[in-house]
Amino acid sequence: MARPSRAAALALAVALACLVAAAAAAPARAAASRAGARLSGSKLGIGEPPVARRKPHRMKTNGETRVDDYYWLRDDSRGDAEVLEYLEAENKYAAAAMEDTKELQERLFGEMKGRIKESDVSVPSKYNGYWYYARTVEGSQYEVHCRRAAGPAASATGADMEYPDVTKGAAEGEEVILDENRRREEIGAKFFAVDAVEVSPDQKLLAWAEDTVGGEKYTVHVKELATGRAVSEPIPETSGSVVWANDNATLFYVVKDKLDRPYKVMRHKIGTPVADDVAVFEEPDEAFYVAIGKDFSEKLLYIQSGSSLTSEILYLGADDPSGEWKVVLPRSKNVDYSVAYHPGPEGGEPWFMILLRDERRPNSEALVAPVSDPSRQTVLLPHRADVQLDGVGVSSKYVIANERANATVRVVYHELAPGGPMPTAPLGAGTVIGFDEAVYDLSGGITGEFESEVLRLYYNSMTTPTSIIDHHIGSGRRAVRKTISVLGGFSKDDYASERVWATSPDGTRVPISLVYRKDLFKQDGTAKMLLYGYGSYGSSMDPTFDSKRLSLLDRGWVYGIAHIRGGGDLGRLWYEDGKFLKKRHTFEDFVAAAELLVQANYTSPEGLAIEGRSAGGMLIGAVLNMRPDLFNSAIAGVPFVDCLTTMLDPSIPLTITEYEEWGNPELPEYYEYMKSYSPVDNVKPQRYPHMLVTAGLHDPRVGYWEPAKWVAKLRSLKTDDSVLLLKTELGAGHFSVTGRFDRLKERAAELAFILKAAGQMDAAPLAGSGAAASPAAAAA
Ligand SMILES: *[C@@H]1O[C@H](CO)[C@@H](O)[C@H](O)[C@H]1NC(C)=O
Ligand SMILES: *[C@@H]1O[C@H](CO)[C@@H](O)[C@H](O)[C@H]1NC(C)=O
Ligand SMILES: *[C@@H]1O[C@H](CO)[C@@H](O)[C@H](O)[C@H]1NC(C)=O
Repeated sequence: MARPSRAAALALAVALACLVAAAAAAPARAAASRAGARLSGSKLGIGEPPVARRKPHRMKTNGETRVDDYYWLRDDSRGDAEVLEYLEAENKYAAAAMEDTKELQERLFGEMKGRIKESDVSVPSKYNGYWYYARTVEGSQYEVHCRRAAGPAASATGADMEYPDVTKGAAEGEEVILDENRRREEIGAKFFAVDAVEVSPDQKLLAWAEDTVGGEKYTVHVKELATGRAVSEPIPETSGSVVWANDNATLFYVVKDKLDRPYKVMRHKIGTPVADDVAVFEEPDEAFYVAIGKDFSEKLLYIQSGSSLTSEILYLGADDPSGEWKVVLPRSKNVDYSVAYHPGPEGGEPWFMILLRDERRPNSEALVAPVSDPSRQTVLLPHRADVQLDGVGVSSKYVIANERANATVRVVYHELAPGGPMPTAPLGAGTVIGFDEAVYDLSGGITGEFESEVLRLYYNSMTTPTSIIDHHIGSGRRAVRKTISVLGGFSKDDYASERVWATSPDGTRVPISLVYRKDLFKQDGTAKMLLYGYGSYGSSMDPTFDSKRLSLLDRGWVYGIAHIRGGGDLGRLWYEDGKFLKKRHTFEDFVAAAELLVQANYTSPEGLAIEGRSAGGMLIGAVLNMRPDLFNSAIAGVPFVDCLTTMLDPSIPLTITEYEEWGNPELPEYYEYMKSYSPVDNVKPQRYPHMLVTAGLHDPRVGYWEPAKWVAKLRSLKTDDSVLLLKTELGAGHFSVTGRFDRLKERAAELAFILKAAGQMDAAPLAGSGAAASPAAAAA
């Protein structure tokens, strides 16, 4: 039930990327760069860059007038001929500038593809008598959703660890419930993204939500699985979530308003016209976004309405879909909560676990309260100043907490009293699951049904591909269900990961996670590095594995993540110390990280590339204005760079809800402060590094015109001849292309750009990068 934000597609990218592996051969000193062959705009021989026409547009705020010469690039219809012409001219220019990297892009794409096990299958999860999982098939871009019948339900003896082998291809008994590849072909969609894929509780109907434009407005379809017959008219303009009630005939969905805000929950009954659907909840406050969900117990349905700082939850018995929704805790400014339900012992009282954050408990506290009176609360897991509760789940027998302390995560489980009565005192310390690596990522929760005792853990690090481990708490049995394969000769022992700390100007210590290839990295300032940052919305950028990144590491590059303020990497206060009138901390932390990495000889300004997406693109824009001398090149993906002008315009999606994120610049204090960092407003006549900027024409989160205006202004003011490219995906939105191979191609183009900017067009990777590896080597 996440609120949309200008968030990077990280999780998705990681999930798609994870498949890998590799191997070994004659090292062709990857790091050996063609010194002096740095790229230069004027020497590209590709003609002059496009020049956007200037049409001064005056904007008066708080008694001050700003002039925006490129305001005209904003076209809500996305059909204006002059705008499209400019974007196409930029695309052409970018293609010409990258023409000589075609071969390199092909090579990088081959390496990345060579690491992926193309035919693969996810770890099955149990639901009402079936195992559900998804396949990817060789040569196909999208997932195939499947299921097969499961044996009897969970049991305390560990029988729920019994588990089908679905790795052997489409074996007998497998039923394809939705083949995204075939669906996309059938409807002839160029862009294709699926959100919800939800089976009715009786396992007979399938509802799914698809977007064929990239604008994140999903159409819901429902079919009968036995026949494939559509049992509902398509339901357009939804947020992409669907929830089934337990009558197997009612489903709930959320519709979006004209500003793309999910604001209204509708109830649909299979077999009745969509026109007769009933609105069960409508959120009038434009700062609040609405989401729906179903409790893990399957007993309750939820509606969550939340702004950045405040949330409220309503619930309804899942057996009673036309019943009345009730509020758990009435909304209260700057109180944010989520809930989980436990039916309690047979004949006993059901209770809620409430995970609540407010000003007094910034790192969240877990409470319990009877469903009959959620205000009668008992503390379950007390607030701690140095430990944040990222998430807490409840199952029949356990409470599972995902915790974060000192930029490291862990999973802790606690046992409930037999029968599951509501706890009457705080739980003890619980059992902690952690790993030995210096830097890693971990999450976990009970998998399958409410009675299940299987804790499913997802573990990975910058050197270790994701392992999915099932831990049967009752019996202590453990099984590694899957370790994402990395083909092409990958061996985790070839890489090292470490954490270093920079010091920001105000004295705050900022962690940085690093990974590099042991035999190629020398800490003498000669290494090239790609440094990534985000730093907004309290989102944590945890140190995860990415097989695409190996193409850089195998060329001697270091990859780093700066865990800067504004993100949630060190808990809630880390976030609050990098927002509103402290937003500049985000940028100062990133600059401090870059300076430390240079001082400590991990890299040099000539070798340093930086990258951020979305709100992380604002970070890139801001630090480029502040310290252009510190970086050689930058990738800014769908960057939120025109933040002041956008936040002054409530007709743009996200503006109103994000007054709680950046502040409302109608107020003079915020106006002045945001003006001091807004990237478009601070472009100066100075030298800038090489830059690759991307946009999505249908992006509802960051209007394509933000990057377009930024690039147009940079072109008119910058004093260097470094390369500046704008690539607008004309058939996609915020998350760009969706096919897994198209994503690899896109990444290959980005890496080709920074390699070219670093004078490493010809650098061959150290063996083990996949493209050349034989199947035999991969199997070894
Ligand atoms: C819906 O399906 C569930 C699971 O099979 C079943 O328990 C329930 O009785 C069904 N409800 C109705 C109204 O058919
Ligand atoms: C956080 O971890 C670092 C090592 O990565 C250590 O030096 C520091 O003392 C830790 N801080 C706390 C509060 O535990
Ligand atoms: C960085 O490396 C150079 C040699 O390239 C060396 O002279 C210098 O002392 C090193 N600095 C640090 C902080 O290690």
